Amino acid sequence: MARNRRRFEDKVVLITGGSGGQGRVQASMFAEQGAAVVLTDVVEAAGKALAAQLRKSGANASFVKLDVTDADSWAKVVKRIRRDHGKLHVLVNNAGVISRTSVRTIDMAEWQRVLGINLTGPMLGTQAVAPLMRDSGGGAIVNIASTAGLVGHPGVAYAASKWGLRGVTKSAAMELLDWNIRVNSVHPAQVSETGMAANATPGYRYANERAMPLKRASRPDEVAQAVLFLASDEASYVNATEVVVDGGAVAIGLPRVRTLLEDDFNRANAAKP
Ligand SMILES: NC(=O)c1ccc[n+]([C@@H]2O[C@H](COP(=O)([O-])OP(=O)(O)OC[C@H]3O[C@@H](n4cnc5c(N)ncnc54)[C@H](O)[C@@H]3O)[C@@H](O)[C@H]2O)c1
Repeated sequence: MARNRRRFEDKVVLITGGSGGQGRVQASMFAEQGAAVVLTDVVEAAGKALAAQLRKSGANASFVKLDVTDADSWAKVVKRIRRDHGKLHVLVNNAGVISRTSVRTIDMAEWQRVLGINLTGPMLGTQAVAPLMRDSGGGAIVNIASTAGLVGHPGVAYAASKWGLRGVTKSAAMELLDWNIRVNSVHPAQVSETGMAANATPGYRYANERAMPLKRASRPDEVAQAVLFLASDEASYVNATEVVVDGGAVAIGLPRVRTLLEDDFNRANAAKP
């Protein structure tokens, strides 16, 4: 949409997990629309290469190594953005790890690792960036949660982290309102072209895609469209809410599967004498 092409002109955007599937696409789309993008991740080579590629196409882009679980690293990144840009308008808490270990078998190390990255990380990030956003006149924080933060999930730590992230989102939105900072969460179902989708077992992918109302996973850009909207001034009245980008899976997935099974059953029984 031509009217939106430069809607992040003069805005500075910080993305965590920027070397991964969705973070890369978000970074490219923000850059295309005029933002100065600061990519961060624990994986350096891919993030640095993407920043270089974006700079080559005329964007203002840089990469800084950041482990989202480390409060000192967050402080350093924010200090550097203050020095290099003097302002910050958007944080996308996108970094995350999947876990499919059940409540019966998970050990404390995995529980704490997943909660550390997926839940503590965004909280630390919010805490670290808020004063700079306030000094920049306000901003928007977008937390990448999951449909696993809306319903149950086979990975108990993953579900707990994403449900918890909704709580962080709402608490932060309430508190940061006075600083003109909006905080919202985005809830994708399975997203293709990501490390997480690549690591899913073939059976998981098959079951997921068969059960999804649109019979496919989303593409990263379909989720990023929601992220950019929430980060933009066009979402000025959207705060403390959940944007679900799942092709309708949570809302209509179960009734749809039931209808399909019902049709199968009726067809099979109609054929009987
Ligand atoms: N891919 C999916 O199907 C899916 C579905 C719903 C929600 N999500 C969420 O989307 C977000 C993005 O994941 P993705 O789909 O791009 O997967 P991905 O695995 O491709 O990317 C995740 C990125 O996070 C980075 N990361 C991991 N631990 C980190 C840490 N401690 N500090 C900083 N960075 C770290 C990884 O290096 C990687 O680049 C995650 O929060 C994930 O939970 C993904």
